[in-house]
Amino acid sequence: MNKLKVGVIGGTGMVGQRFVSLLAEHPWFELTVIAASARSAGKTYEQAVGSRWALEVPMPEMAKGIVVKSAVDDMAEIAGQVDFVFSAVDMKKDEIKALEEAYAKLECPVVSNNSAHRWTPDVPMVVPEINPEHLEVIPAQRKRLGTKRGFIAVKSNCSLQSYVPALHPLKDEFGLNKILVCTYQAISGAGKTFETWPEMVDNIIPYIGGEEEKSEQEPLKLWGHVDGDHIANAEAPSITAQCLRVPASNGHMAAVFASFDKKPTEEEIKARWAAFSGKPQALDLPSAPKQFIHYFQEPDRPQTKLDRNLEGGMAVSVGRLRPDTQYDYKFVCLSHNTLRGAAGGGVLLAELLCAEGWFDR
Ligand SMILES: NC(=O)c1ccc[n+]([C@@H]2O[C@H](COP(=O)([O-])OP(=O)(O)OC[C@H]3O[C@@H](n4cnc5c(N)ncnc54)[C@H](OP(=O)(O)O)[C@@H]3O)[C@@H](O)[C@H]2O)c1
Repeated sequence: MNKLKVGVIGGTGMVGQRFVSLLAEHPWFELTVIAASARSAGKTYEQAVGSRWALEVPMPEMAKGIVVKSAVDDMAEIAGQVDFVFSAVDMKKDEIKALEEAYAKLECPVVSNNSAHRWTPDVPMVVPEINPEHLEVIPAQRKRLGTKRGFIAVKSNCSLQSYVPALHPLKDEFGLNKILVCTYQAISGAGKTFETWPEMVDNIIPYIGGEEEKSEQEPLKLWGHVDGDHIANAEAPSITAQCLRVPASNGHMAAVFASFDKKPTEEEIKARWAAFSGKPQALDLPSAPKQFIHYFQEPDRPQTKLDRNLEGGMAVSVGRLRPDTQYDYKFVCLSHNTLRGAAGGGVLLAELLCAEGWFDR
């Protein structure tokens, strides 16, 4: 199989660095273009990133010498050189919307990590194990954009990538009706490290702008369905969320409370988690975890530092399932926010799009 050529727009940032490191040795995709702001354009990737490299793994050798392009000024050239792009820019929301649509209109598909298009009704927002069928809305989006090949597909917010997978296999069978969730989110979710955000050492900040709304509303789009030319959101369950920033480098934890119309037993819940497998597993996509949900019996697991990298940071860890006095059950979940929750989730979505022929020419 010939590898597809791919560009990373916003490749110098924290999420962009993850994309670059995941793509450096990807079996299906070849990283050929890195783009960022005009500040970085013309420099080699190594020069442009400089001391900002934030990953625990070294910068890939193959990326160091790539000359960074301007995501805006070199758009037509980039769109002509690659088969699709990943988007991880940090700009104003309406600028990101316009930039991603411009790439799509140049017939260059966009797989985006950004929130800008998550609520565009004909843009699929996909967690590949949960709602791969939402890609069927792409022809309607292409019609609106007037494109043959170009489109935008997005991944959902990092905060929900642990608890939505855990709730999904229980939802329909047991009538999931009410969720309360508190998230404990790592500082890399703000594009920061302890060096760049020393105020977070020995501290918790009980506010992350916009995050509670995303945590409550995005699951309803994921659990919606394609209705003609748009995604119709699910009406239930009702979700309430509080999101806190905690002093962890990577890994978002969630404490979850859930109630059902038909209360399952603990054994039934654990059995659904153990058996949960989606299209990425059936298609054996390169970034798919073999086992999506891992349940820990130990009362003090999962732990952020010990368990966030499970299956390359693409699996979800769950533990502490027990009855609750106000909801039916409570439990905790963990996922890696810049792997499953950001770049890894984006790469897995691109693998699904590729396997299903959406990038075909
Ligand atoms: N961090 C996470 O865990 C996470 C998770 C989910 C979603 N997100 C979202 O992903 C996006 C990127 O986040 P991040 O943490 O990686 O941000 P970041 O580290 O600040 O990186 C921002 C990137 O955008 C580029 N950029 C900024 N202004 C630009 C412009 N005018 N034109 C073109 N490129 C421009 C930067 O290029 P220069 O280097 O040239 O300035 C850099 O490559 C954000 O929208 C964020 O909300 C982040």
